[in-house]
Amino acid sequence: MSIISPSVLACDFANIQAEVEMINKSNADWFHIDIMDGVFVPNISFGFPVMKAIAKHATKPLDVHLMIMNPDNYITHCKDAGAEWVTVHYEACTHLHRTIQLIKANGMKAGVALNPHTPVSVLEEIITDLDLVLIMSVNPGFGGQKFINAAIPKVAKLKSLITEKGASTLIEIDGGVNDKTGKLLLDAGADALVAGSYVFKSENPTATIDILKAL
Ligand code: DX5
Ligand code: ZN
Repeated sequence: MSIISPSVLACDFANIQAEVEMINKSNADWFHIDIMDGVFVPNISFGFPVMKAIAKHATKPLDVHLMIMNPDNYITHCKDAGAEWVTVHYEACTHLHRTIQLIKANGMKAGVALNPHTPVSVLEEIITDLDLVLIMSVNPGFGGQKFINAAIPKVAKLKSLITEKGASTLIEIDGGVNDKTGKLLLDAGADALVAGSYVFKSENPTATIDILKAL
């Protein structure tokens, strides 16, 4: 069964405790936490104080997506703020292997995100070190964008690489996920789906989570 990670970027920030409790009670698996720095991506979301506030009420793992330059400087912040999974961008890490080891040394699971233009092949030499790969199906920085279809064959390529190398890496997808794109992604080999607007802007987010969970 797939892992569902609602992106709190799309939640009502003025009612964050109620939104967190809704996810706690739902069939969702993780909380997807989008941290943006206004440099790596052209937007700023929220930072560690907000993540700590979420962690205080969350009863499920925090799946943290760092859309920031120099992520090495913030790995201990992630740990202190309650992260279980930390994903950094391939495009933001000159010494990716070092960054991955740093995340693991801090007791967290390590992931790498790929922008739409970045091929899966750049991960050939590091895939066995990764707990997760996050395929971006939009350009990172904003919720509510249109799904990029090229993400589907990319998932299949990544799945082949993981199988070929005997790795146990999870495949997560982020951006424009709904019941239709989600089904295609799972069929292609995805393990985890991030969904922001599809869940939080729906009339009944708990039921929408169930729809994703049943795909
Ligand atoms: C975008 C973020 C996503 C975003 C997804 O840069 O990484 O997690 O919240 O939002 P939707 O599901 O609305 O595309
Ligand atoms: Zn994200």
